[in-house]
Amino acid sequence: MKQKETIILGIESSCDDTSASIIKNTAILSNIIASQKIHEEYGGVVPELASRAHQQNIIPVVDAAIKKAGIKKEEIDAIAFTNGPGLMGSLLVGTSFAKAFSLALNCPMINVNHMKGHVLAHFIDDEGKSKPKFPFLCLTVSGGHTQIVLVKDYLDMEIIGSTIDDAAGEAFDKSAKLLGFPYPGGPLIDKHAQNGNPLRFEFNKPLMKNYDFSFSGLKTSILYFLQKQEKANPHFIQENLDDLCASIQHTIIEILLKKLVKASTDLNIKEIAIAGGVSANKGLRKAIEDNAEKLNWNTYIPKFEYCTDNAAMIAITGKFMFEKNLFADQTITAKARIEM
Ligand code: KG4
Ligand code: ZN
Repeated sequence: MKQKETIILGIESSCDDTSASIIKNTAILSNIIASQKIHEEYGGVVPELASRAHQQNIIPVVDAAIKKAGIKKEEIDAIAFTNGPGLMGSLLVGTSFAKAFSLALNCPMINVNHMKGHVLAHFIDDEGKSKPKFPFLCLTVSGGHTQIVLVKDYLDMEIIGSTIDDAAGEAFDKSAKLLGFPYPGGPLIDKHAQNGNPLRFEFNKPLMKNYDFSFSGLKTSILYFLQKQEKANPHFIQENLDDLCASIQHTIIEILLKKLVKASTDLNIKEIAIAGGVSANKGLRKAIEDNAEKLNWNTYIPKFEYCTDNAAMIAITGKFMFEKNLFADQTITAKARIEM
């Protein structure tokens, strides 16, 4: 017997991207993302401006997702939305919209944890790409989080390591700011790193227990190094930009890989995935592939558009929750902090 098709609308608004996606089972019919340029000039996301922009974007983005998918809104079986973790004002826009739309369509809603969404992005259908087998390890690296997650099943995950201070994305963005790049500087470091020498400069690496990370010392080490160099040569950054980017990127990747390799060895798990905005980084992708050869890993890296914040990952998580009847009711609230 043919299984009934499930159509889910996913909504993501936890930080500075407003996104809506329609999925049919595990296939993406649309994934619309409106990014907010307004934060560039401030060197970071300004929460109040982010929520105002979400407010303006949410209806056109959902409308575009439904139109692009070629469905009628009445065909939607459930609305999955991010209710945390993230910026409160931003989360409230998506959460309130989902509640209202669910009442209007008379369909159930599903509250999704943003970090779970990043992990489950690996289960979106992508031609020719295989999906990780349980149990697998997922290095989830974004602007707000850095975690090693032991994924035992779709909805059974355990965080075995995390950052005690800055996230890996913050380490990229804060370093980029020191180099004079606008926010978010991560992709710009990545771009310049491609032409630079990763071993030219050496920065402090933390000594952390177990599978935990720390990035605040790296930022301080870069700051002091640049201050010292610029005293001797005010054009030091411009003259060495590519090598600086390559060396900073190399250090961040080494910090991440050291713990991922340790977790894989200790737990004897060779199914290795990466997720989150920083997994778009070319250097990290290459380092993961290099380790795969050396350590016999099966590696899984999502397509670029499913790495950074997107609603397709929320919709796919919603689909797995839908199958388990994990629905929310109208008392659901947005939560800035939320456990996995
Ligand atoms: O997952 P994401 O889109 O949003 C959060 O949930 O935080 O991640 C955004 C982060 C930013 O810090 C951004 O600089 C970083 O991901 N990022 C990158 C790259 N693309 C995005 N960092 C390094 N290299 C990249 N190519
Ligand atoms: Zn994210």
